[in-house]
Amino acid sequence: MYRLHFGVESRGATSFEDGDTMKLENGSLATPLESDSVATVRAGRADFPILSTLINGNPLAYLDNAATTHKPQSVINRIQKFYAAENSNIHRGVHTLTAQATDIYEEARSALAQFVNGFSVDEIIFNRGCTEGINCVADAFASPAELWQHPSGLISPLSEGDVILVSEMEHHSNLVPWQIAAAKSGAVVKAIPITDSGDLDLDEYQALLKMNPVRIVAVTHASNVIGTVNPIQLLAELAHQHSAIVVVDGAQAVAHLAIDVQNLGADFYAFSGHKMFGPTGIGVLWGKQTHLEAMPPYQTGGGMVREVTMQKTTFAQVPAKFEAGTPNIAGAIGLAEAARYLAALANGGSGPASIDKMRPQLQSSFAALTLVEDQLLAHALQALTPVKGLKVLGRPHHQLPVISFVLDGVHPHDLGTILDSEGVAVRVGHHCCMPLMRRLGVPATTRASLAFYNTDAEIERLIDAINKARSFFGEP
Ligand code: ALA
Repeated sequence: MYRLHFGVESRGATSFEDGDTMKLENGSLATPLESDSVATVRAGRADFPILSTLINGNPLAYLDNAATTHKPQSVINRIQKFYAAENSNIHRGVHTLTAQATDIYEEARSALAQFVNGFSVDEIIFNRGCTEGINCVADAFASPAELWQHPSGLISPLSEGDVILVSEMEHHSNLVPWQIAAAKSGAVVKAIPITDSGDLDLDEYQALLKMNPVRIVAVTHASNVIGTVNPIQLLAELAHQHSAIVVVDGAQAVAHLAIDVQNLGADFYAFSGHKMFGPTGIGVLWGKQTHLEAMPPYQTGGGMVREVTMQKTTFAQVPAKFEAGTPNIAGAIGLAEAARYLAALANGGSGPASIDKMRPQLQSSFAALTLVEDQLLAHALQALTPVKGLKVLGRPHHQLPVISFVLDGVHPHDLGTILDSEGVAVRVGHHCCMPLMRRLGVPATTRASLAFYNTDAEIERLIDAINKARSFFGEP
């Protein structure tokens, strides 16, 4: 029996052809077609060469996907091909290679627009990653009105006393930039609390929204520590009723959920390539075009200007306005390949024939990937629960396959080291979420974070290694 609990707004809605259906726990329908897709998604493990590495003499059981995901061979090949055969700078010059590199880079932007279901390709800003995307937005809101291009209404700088709402589960990358923006503008940062189950406290959220003037709601789509998936569509709807802008940290969600910015209703959505099977050092800030047009540029220099005199500069249109300097061209192309890989994942390995075909394929891939991951999550939770002295932190209503736990008598760093000696890779520490650690009442946790390519056998190896650590530390 599938254990499903995916939210209507976020997990890829599965649309099937005619055929037999079976009702799942959450009311979704599964068809025989779906089990083929599940098998196809599981077979995707073979696309990741690093997963056959030995670590300390043991096969790698990689359970640190929230830190970074591995890269399929197609992404590795695509980057290699760019440097071997296509390398040139973009948007500069007229020679053949530069024109070709420009076209490939701009095709990558179109692929990413499809990946998030953006309204327009110009809303896709390539940058270094999620952290840079959030900093770009926070910096704009802390900049004086004279630097903005068309400040108006919601899209205007923060002022003294304005409120920025974040949540208690934010990664530092969606908290510290807002603290800096507050310090520069006189705004204040307030936190939406979480419940004991690890969900956002929606009553408190609504109460906080009534505190005028909430200007910005900055929340994560999914917690990197306890896996909570937040109801972005609802949060955005409520925020907009109070004229607040919604900024979403999508870092953890992009490898697990079919992102649809039109449906989510947020104003900005930031994510990193390396967390969705793409390269490091590349990410995307998606923003509504009118917002991006109004905002001041984040970094300045070559490639983002229209006219420069010794006295003054006018800026290029979006997205160029936000891409100063030579961008990570190979990274963007590799990231687009990762998006194509995900589109192909449940579709027999054949990628979309063209970018326009990507969206339906992405939806069916994520629907099948969700089934795989929900089974893995259910197995992991079931296997961890009976381990003596082990406590799983947070049991959110809707959870990605990301699980944090503590083990009596064993410090997470010691546990992580013993697990590593068994070839099991997890992350330990505060996970860049110190306020959440305080809320959970622990200084650090051990975190197992799964991707579709993980297996039940790897979960069993995690449990065996935890039990070894318990014996090593003399736990009864
Ligand atoms: N944000 C990443 C993590 O949670 C690095 O591990």
